[in-house]
Amino acid sequence: MPSNTLSPPVPAAVLCGLAGWVPPRVVTNDELAERLDTDDAWIRTRTGIRRRHVAEPGQATSDLAVAAGRLALRSAGTDSVDAVIVTTTTPDRPCPATAPVVATRLGLAGAAAFDVGAVCTGFVYGLATAAGLIASGVARRVLLIGADTYSTIVDPLDRTNAIIFGDGAGAVVLRAGHADEPGAVGHFDLGSDGAHEELITVAAGGSRQRATGGEPTHAERHFAMRGKEVYRHAVTRMAASARTALSEAGWKTDDVDHFVPHQANLRILHSVADDLDLPRERCVANIDAVGNTGAASIPLALADAVARQRIRAGERLLLTAFGGGLTWGSCLLTWPELAPHL
Ligand code: UT7
Repeated sequence: MPSNTLSPPVPAAVLCGLAGWVPPRVVTNDELAERLDTDDAWIRTRTGIRRRHVAEPGQATSDLAVAAGRLALRSAGTDSVDAVIVTTTTPDRPCPATAPVVATRLGLAGAAAFDVGAVCTGFVYGLATAAGLIASGVARRVLLIGADTYSTIVDPLDRTNAIIFGDGAGAVVLRAGHADEPGAVGHFDLGSDGAHEELITVAAGGSRQRATGGEPTHAERHFAMRGKEVYRHAVTRMAASARTALSEAGWKTDDVDHFVPHQANLRILHSVADDLDLPRERCVANIDAVGNTGAASIPLALADAVARQRIRAGERLLLTAFGGGLTWGSCLLTWPELAPHL
């Protein structure tokens, strides 16, 4: 072996396109209070949410994903990618995956296309998956879409969950580049703890429920969450994950210009920021306007903050998510120059 042969550097995944899309229909807290035993003040003080967007009847996750994906491709100035990843808890169907139909509707037939399921952590898992495809040379450009229509799985009469969730989609395009350029995503921390799978579930519709037999009940067909326990895990796991990613990168908390967390509940986001000793002003939140949009929440928060020039090129970001599974994850990046489409 010649000793002076250098292997080519492993390509990094560099963010080069961003977009968010929410269905036009807005549901305010007051509108929910007309059918649920709740009120605007309770929802605002317990969650920070004022309104959310909800898909029309017949509108599925792929419809939202296509809308966000199209805008993200435009933001990246490209009409071709090698892979499309959709991360969602509400796929169009249990089989097949949602990504292939999204790819085809975007004119990307032939690209690799698959779903990633990590509930509300899906976007960070999806970023790591896209980075892996690029690092391995399987793809030079990847479209990653976080999309969820929780309105299709939450019981509209469940006052605990119906107030939190909203529908939406957010998308990014990642291209092969160098680890030291703005937009390069890295220093991932990903984790899970399946011992707590019962905290966030849709019991029916999968092989577990079919294997035990019997028709699913109304409750089994809908989303269920043990809110208080989830809340406690969310705060401790998100803070721990953020710390791990920061220490991997050699960043101090003060190096973070913007903390962009999964928009679970405003109180959770502020508790995590406090735990990290990060001023709350550095926490990016748009939960008041869109609610908790699952896998779409981080890219929607990014698109909103960039459009309002709250996040600018050169600033350093910490992304952290938490969701069912349990799953959690974080990653870091320096914001690149790009024009998001909302
Ligand atoms: O996205 C990833 C994971 N998800 C999350 O991270 C969400 C985590 N959990 C939460 O955000 C909160 O637990 C909720 C917002 C879901 C609930 O807030 P909470 O402060 O934990 O309320 P709680 O469930 O402990 O209920 C407190 C009280 C109860 O009444 P009593 O038993 O104290 O009399 C509930 O029945 O509030 C009542 N309540 C409501 N009252 C008015 C629950 N939901 C409502 C409501 N309106 N919508």
